[in-house]
Amino acid sequence: MKTRIAVLVSGGGTNLQALIDAEKRGELPDGEIVLVVSNNPDAYALTRARKAGIETAVCVKPGMEGKLIEALRAHDIEMIILAGFMAILSKNFVSLYPDRIINIHPSLIPSFCGEGFYGLHVHEAALKYGVKVTGATVHYVNEIPDGGRIICQKAVEIREDDTPETLQRRVMEQAEWILLPRAAQTVANRIRMEKEQ
Ligand code: GRF
Repeated sequence: MKTRIAVLVSGGGTNLQALIDAEKRGELPDGEIVLVVSNNPDAYALTRARKAGIETAVCVKPGMEGKLIEALRAHDIEMIILAGFMAILSKNFVSLYPDRIINIHPSLIPSFCGEGFYGLHVHEAALKYGVKVTGATVHYVNEIPDGGRIICQKAVEIREDDTPETLQRRVMEQAEWILLPRAAQTVANRIRMEKEQ
């Protein structure tokens, strides 16, 4: 049985789209995206999910985590992918899915990560510091923001004339959209093997 995956989103959902496309191309053979959950009812990611025929749920504050747990249980979710999910999950939530939650972060961790480093802020900080190489990281999620074990990373060169926006786009194209589906398959495969043992 394929690993049942939920993708958690808050915004545009280009990383979700990369996962959906990879699954369609047969590049996620050990996993199946069965649910997309957003903490933002207006997230375009929800439209992407509906277009792909994937069930959706919206879980907003107050009580967001409780509603989220309910939705995940109702769909027998075994693995969670955070793809631009803008809420920090509690230690209690994370402990329910040990080594089963992964996140994509748009820098080479441990640079430009942790609290406050999200969205364009990450790329602004990289440009301000003057690093010549940045990238993306997929890692397991634990109770420390961006602090879990690293699964994979990909470097992206910074150009002299980059703005936070151009850099964000290139990191997505050259790293995030490639890395996340690959990491998803690696983890889905491991979970499937553990089940079948
Ligand atoms: C991505 O840069 C991702 O790394 C970060 O949030 C952004 C989400 O973009 N965590 P999208 O919603 O997948 O287009």
